[in-house]
Amino acid sequence: MRALENRIALVTGGASGIGRAIAEAYVREGAHVVIADRDALRAASVAAEIGADGGVEIDVTDAARVEAGVAETARRFGRIDVLVNSAGILTESPLVEMDPAMWAETIAVDLIGVFLCCRYTVPLMVERGWGRVINIASQLGIKGGRSLTHYAAAKAGVIGFTKSLALEVAGQGVLVNAIAPGPIETPMVAGITEEWKAAKRTELPLGRFGTPAEVAPTAVLLASDPGGNLYVGQTLGPNSGDVMP
Ligand SMILES: NC(=O)c1ccc[n+]([C@@H]2O[C@H](COP(=O)([O-])OP(=O)(O)OC[C@H]3O[C@@H](n4cnc5c(N)ncnc54)[C@H](O)[C@@H]3O)[C@@H](O)[C@H]2O)c1
Repeated sequence: MRALENRIALVTGGASGIGRAIAEAYVREGAHVVIADRDALRAASVAAEIGADGGVEIDVTDAARVEAGVAETARRFGRIDVLVNSAGILTESPLVEMDPAMWAETIAVDLIGVFLCCRYTVPLMVERGWGRVINIASQLGIKGGRSLTHYAAAKAGVIGFTKSLALEVAGQGVLVNAIAPGPIETPMVAGITEEWKAAKRTELPLGRFGTPAEVAPTAVLLASDPGGNLYVGQTLGPNSGDVMP
């Protein structure tokens, strides 16, 4: 028996990077996976490539679109067992130069997006008495990062949100946890200068960035029964040793 046999999973940001690797791992473990992404074409093509059940266009900042996409998925499969919130963006600016629009966009995607996806999915899980929510935060939400006040604030927010929601719904069978990866080789970090990456590598006890495939097993664990059964409001850290909370 595979770890996620017949589970129904909705993975936001599943068209790329960490979300894609989690979607792939979930398919391998027997889940029916729907990839939710604002990039509808890529969501559909990735779904076909990895054997997922399909893609759905969801911009996680758009409450009406999130509500409709969640309802569409729940109608199609009868339920949603697992929600992975991996959609996210990363930009950089020192605070003293930061355009307030940059701040607002990051909070909208990286924090409010997590709230909205949970807001419309968790009630369905509570109704059925079983569910797993896995929020992709970041180690930068724990340790902070230069030129990343907006991103670190959003990710710290995700960690606090995760603990609070976990308290609210654990008694109703819904387990909410976060994963706070360290630097992972994905399109998100592809734009960062090689010089920065080289300096960062020397700081890491493992001496290298991780790969999405090395994050995905943590998301399988948290979604699985019995493996994930005792995790409530936790933040797990596949981070090459960069943070030891
Ligand atoms: N790569 C890293 O080093 C790293 C480290 C820690 C945490 N994270 C977090 O992991 C998550 C995934 O990042 P990644 O590295 O895989 O990035 P990525 O850029 O490869 O993938 C992000 C995906 O999110 C989608 N997305 C962006 N905005 C969206 C929106 N408004 N609505 C719906 N979809 C949207 C994109 O289309 C893309 O498919 C993010 O939350 C990121 O903050 C990444």
